[in-house]
Amino acid sequence: MVMENVYVVVGTQWGDEGKGRVTHYLSNDAKMVIRATGGNNAGHTVIVGSDKFAMHLLPSSIIRKDVISVIGPGVVIDPEVLVGEIQTMQKRGVQVSPDNLKISNRCHLIMPWHKDIDAILEGVKTNKIGTTGRGIGPCFSEKAQRTGIRIIDLFSEELLLSKIKESLKISQNLLSLLATDRYYDARYSWNVCQNYLEYFNILSPFVCDTNSFIPEIVDRGEKVIIEGAQAMYLDIDHGNYPYVTSSNPISSGALVGSGIGPTYVRGVIGVMKAYSSRVGEGPFPTELRDETGDRIRELGHEYGTTTGRPRRCGWLDLVLIKGAAFTNGLTGLCVNHVDTIGKFDEINVCVAYNYKNQIITYVPTDLENCKPIYKTYKGGWNTQGINQYDQLPLDTRDYLEMIEEYVDIPVVYIGVGPDEKETIIK
Ligand code: IMP
Repeated sequence: MVMENVYVVVGTQWGDEGKGRVTHYLSNDAKMVIRATGGNNAGHTVIVGSDKFAMHLLPSSIIRKDVISVIGPGVVIDPEVLVGEIQTMQKRGVQVSPDNLKISNRCHLIMPWHKDIDAILEGVKTNKIGTTGRGIGPCFSEKAQRTGIRIIDLFSEELLLSKIKESLKISQNLLSLLATDRYYDARYSWNVCQNYLEYFNILSPFVCDTNSFIPEIVDRGEKVIIEGAQAMYLDIDHGNYPYVTSSNPISSGALVGSGIGPTYVRGVIGVMKAYSSRVGEGPFPTELRDETGDRIRELGHEYGTTTGRPRRCGWLDLVLIKGAAFTNGLTGLCVNHVDTIGKFDEINVCVAYNYKNQIITYVPTDLENCKPIYKTYKGGWNTQGINQYDQLPLDTRDYLEMIEEYVDIPVVYIGVGPDEKETIIK
């Protein structure tokens, strides 16, 4: 019998919608939370009272000691970053033990040369992506090439060293073609091997085969949340290629990355902001390269959690959200930054595109050829201190109900401030 109690949390725009906050909120009564995609290109922030936690690899549930936090097979891991994150959490008094953190032994490892290649490729490409520089793309390339190194390979020094050498032989050829003078010698291989074994000393108590317990928990009908990273329009197949990440952060990708089948899913929550933002390059029809965009950035504190880069900001684009609703199979929406957008007296929302002199309401492959068609809504609302939907100002409710109607998906959570307590359930 299929027990459906799995929820997937995904981003509907270009990332940074507040997935961490929603995941943490939903995990209140969950048994297990699984991070399933991406790597430490993600930056998930959770604010509980005066405590602010910024996580890149650990699931946002880690601050709840009774929840099992899992880093699933689809995540690529930079062990130096993960060790640092675990130790920082422990120093802050957060329990991170083998009881509440499990890391899949199938996860691929980001190696130091992946970061070199990421930077060098960005330097030579005509279409620069504006990557996070964390080595994500080269790690996924090696995974697909079948020369990747996985956590399970850290169990044997001999095996690890031979895999490092093999992978470097290929990477060295690539770098030579790119005319760099980066050269990895035998000592380099040995040093990397020793460093990774040291990280493994710290990580090994958490490492396991997630197939040994995930099916049992899911089959018991316990509440499970899969925490997505990145977002729909950074998806390598469905986003704005080539300005995308190297994996599938949509809901189906999150299932692949956790090893759970689609029939177990009860709900897919699409997280969005009441405006749009994007870091890195790529098309962005509603971008505001003016004072209004600057004001959104300042009011919404739109600076990257991972790289600190200022985010590009613009009006809400509902055509994108509608596309994300279909591809992710959304069952509910979480709209964040409703307080931020309410500071504008007039709010524009993109409801269609002018695409090569035609009006369209779908997302074409060449998004750069789309000009937004806006509808204007009344803003100027104050949501401070409100924690019930029917107490929200009428204009705020009109705005949210307009989103529901357009996307044809109910709004279930509303973020009216950065603190977890500032979440309204509809
Ligand atoms: P990469 O994932 O580092 O290769 O970067 C590819 C693109 O995805 C760049 O535009 C990044 O800025 C963007 N990106 C990757 N992860 C995130 C994220 O978690 N939030 C927002 N943008 C991201």
